Amino acid sequence: MNGLQLIATGGALPERTVTNEELSRMVDTSDEWITTRTGIRTRHYCGETENAATLAIRAAQQALERSGLGPEEISCCICATLSAPDATPSVACQVQRALHLPEGCPALDVNAACSGFIYGTAAANGLLATLGGKYALVIGCEALSRLMDPKDRSTCVLFGDGAGAAVFERTESNAPFAVTLGARGDDAIHAGGPSRTGSSPITMDGKAVFRFAVDALPKSLDRVLQKTGLNLDDLSWVVCHQANSRIIDHCVRHLNADPAKFYKNMDHHGNTSAASIPVALNELAESGQLLPGQTIACIGFGGGLTWGGAIFQYRK
Ligand code: ACO
Repeated sequence: MNGLQLIATGGALPERTVTNEELSRMVDTSDEWITTRTGIRTRHYCGETENAATLAIRAAQQALERSGLGPEEISCCICATLSAPDATPSVACQVQRALHLPEGCPALDVNAACSGFIYGTAAANGLLATLGGKYALVIGCEALSRLMDPKDRSTCVLFGDGAGAAVFERTESNAPFAVTLGARGDDAIHAGGPSRTGSSPITMDGKAVFRFAVDALPKSLDRVLQKTGLNLDDLSWVVCHQANSRIIDHCVRHLNADPAKFYKNMDHHGNTSAASIPVALNELAESGQLLPGQTIACIGFGGGLTWGGAIFQYRK
């Protein structure tokens, strides 16, 4: 089977940590409301000199170093983000330059909001299959604090900044690999781009998105499992987009699954959109919980609306 295996991860978080207490001094909210409704306690916000690209470069550099590969061995660089600091050069091109990736290495950004890392992984697999090459760098990075209205309590308590990176190897082994993707154009989550007049921060119909998410998550997991012929017991980890702990709990109950398999870290990151899955993968690897030979499912859902699932093996 042709597919990708994860061989290294990296991560980068801004130094500044923002607590629920701090937010409750700025808008009419409370630690109790945020914690019980979302599971979020703290998140990181970029400082003045940080943005989605600087975080992406740090995370990608770390993943590349840990892979033991030289930059010349990377054959494509994909960056998933909805909060790129510049329309051009893309974040992926900024990474390409900073890491001295070869000129033959295509570099592009993917915007599929919180499903971006899954879309990016599928794109990387497709590019390696089309153009040749063995190794791909897939990054998820966000500076969502720059897109939020700090006075809107319905969104400003949810989001955070960060970046995670993965180095994948294209393999012809029998290691399980599959990706499924979906999209349905809908304004339930909206954020204006640079060409919009006036400021247009993130708005979200939270209840509608919650209903969409609790439906999309188990369906995406089921579809990607079906594609590999595996079942839930064959997975060591399910790494879902970290929007809200209640969405993951709902899925665990619905599937009658082992909650310990469903990694959660939104308590200290909030929702970092495209970065949330690779940041979680990096935490699992750094903490020694992700072991070589383990099979992981990653499930994304969010703005667009978009959704998708990926299954791959970790091979250090
Ligand atoms: N503090 C205190 N009260 C608040 C806050 C806050 N921060 N925010 C909203 N409220 C109030 C509301 O005004 C409302 O008050 P009312 O009943 O007097 O009108 C009450 O709390 C309940 O609000 P709901 O919106 O119904 O709260 P809910 O329980 O649905 O939780 C939340 C809101 C957390 C946003 C939830 O709907 C959710 O997680 N939705 C899904 C988000 C998601 O998955 N996003 C993923 C994609 S993000 C992306 O792609 C960028």
